[in-house]
Amino acid sequence: AKKAVLGPLVGAVDQGTSSTRFLVFNSKTAELLSHHQVEIKQEFPREGWVEQDPKEILQSVYECIEKTCEKLGQLNIDISNIKAIGVSNQRETTVVWDKVTGEPLYNAVVWLDLRTQSTVENLSKRIPGNNNFVKSKTGLPLSTYFSAVKLRWLLDNVKKVQEAVEENRALFGTIDSWLIWSLTGGIHGGVHCTDVTNASRTMLFNIHSLEWDKELCEFFGIPMEILPNVRSSSEIYGLMKISHSLKAGALEGVPISGCLGDQSAALVGQMCFQDGQAKNTYGTGCFLLCNTGHKCVFSEHGLLTTIAYKLGRDKPVYYALEGSVAIAGAVIRWLRDNLGIIKSSEEIEKLAKEVGTSYGCYFVPAFSGLYAPYWEPSARGIICGLTQFTNKCHIAFAALEAVCFQTREILDAMNRDCGIPLSHLQVDGGMTSNKILMQLQADILYIPVVKPSMPETTALGAAMAAGAAEGVGVWSLEPEDLSAVTMERFEPQINAEESEIRYSTWKKAVMKSIGWVT
Ligand code: G3P
Repeated sequence: AKKAVLGPLVGAVDQGTSSTRFLVFNSKTAELLSHHQVEIKQEFPREGWVEQDPKEILQSVYECIEKTCEKLGQLNIDISNIKAIGVSNQRETTVVWDKVTGEPLYNAVVWLDLRTQSTVENLSKRIPGNNNFVKSKTGLPLSTYFSAVKLRWLLDNVKKVQEAVEENRALFGTIDSWLIWSLTGGIHGGVHCTDVTNASRTMLFNIHSLEWDKELCEFFGIPMEILPNVRSSSEIYGLMKISHSLKAGALEGVPISGCLGDQSAALVGQMCFQDGQAKNTYGTGCFLLCNTGHKCVFSEHGLLTTIAYKLGRDKPVYYALEGSVAIAGAVIRWLRDNLGIIKSSEEIEKLAKEVGTSYGCYFVPAFSGLYAPYWEPSARGIICGLTQFTNKCHIAFAALEAVCFQTREILDAMNRDCGIPLSHLQVDGGMTSNKILMQLQADILYIPVVKPSMPETTALGAAMAAGAAEGVGVWSLEPEDLSAVTMERFEPQINAEESEIRYSTWKKAVMKSIGWVT
């Protein structure tokens, strides 16, 4: 059959903590034409440790590309119309690999990993000058969350990493760097780069000068020669070089021209290009980012300052305030994999709907300590307010409510920092297909929640950046280019007083979770 001719298409890899996807969009309408998703494993070798296999991650990308291309073929869509590929990724997760063999030298140390708690405590005792040394340069608090301390741990504890550094064979990268290096040829000339958004999550990058910071590298003891080149979020980094493990040969030679950490990608995909526009993405964690324009705003309420995007080599940099919640979708996965009270993640909605209330049960999923606004590594998860009446449906409901309460805490902090309260919340991410969650979120925030019909905003943002890059030029970043995206709105349905009572009981529960480990 003759293949249908479309406008230029753009592909996007969305490599998240829980799964990998490859999606293909029509650059004229932003319509999602086809996609494929593969869940990826997380390993917990010790209490508080979280690792992933970099080769499994890479393989999952190959598999998703291949399956998506097959599906496009079945739709009679010619894959030679794919003109560019963007990459968005889980941020901070740290990989060190050998540039001669192409082999990772240890598992990826995932952003949620807590093994560096003592490293952080020791480093914080010897911060030079004032306590603001790290934060004023990077916008970040000194925390286990960011890459620098994970890399420090690898350098201190993994012999293969130490040897490779000595022999000038080691390369460090976050997941974007690992993927781009591999997809552009790996040991046969792969490009070792990252973009400003991912670099801004390492705790080694100066967000004012947009360069790796020599003083920070000295402070953390990081050899600068293993760091990737930092590029903008939208430019041609290199061309796809198909490895023998990828059959989708038609993508050979396609430029990889967009790269953004997943939360920045979602901000772009939601078209939050103006100062004061914000989005909240519900993935493994939950991340509320508010565009602050060219200004670097420092929070007084526990938020991070981070790079939002820089869409072109000569384009200006945009900053964002970010409220990061470590555990959102991950709590559903925990109920599925660790407690077994649901068989699939979707089942949570059915359970929660059966009761429509947590019946006084509160669940603080502080599995990796608490992130914003508390930054409390000593917190651990608790479920409280239990009675003999409590059943798994109430716990399921409390887990969903926890995601909403955590978002409320960061929204409150954001409103205080910005001065102008958000009038509504733009949301996206896998969990937003859960209608109970969306309604609860509107009730707990007491403002409308607005979600796009197409929830894959993260991938869309990466595709937009790739399509708009100089030398590609198939996507103009104008609102009319998103004609395929419509919105759904959830209005608050409970009264404000009830909303406040629930929120203050949540805060009591949070206080009980803090200081659990010393
Ligand atoms: O900072 C971590 C974040 O990028 C992870 O995103 O989508 O896997 O929850 P996600």
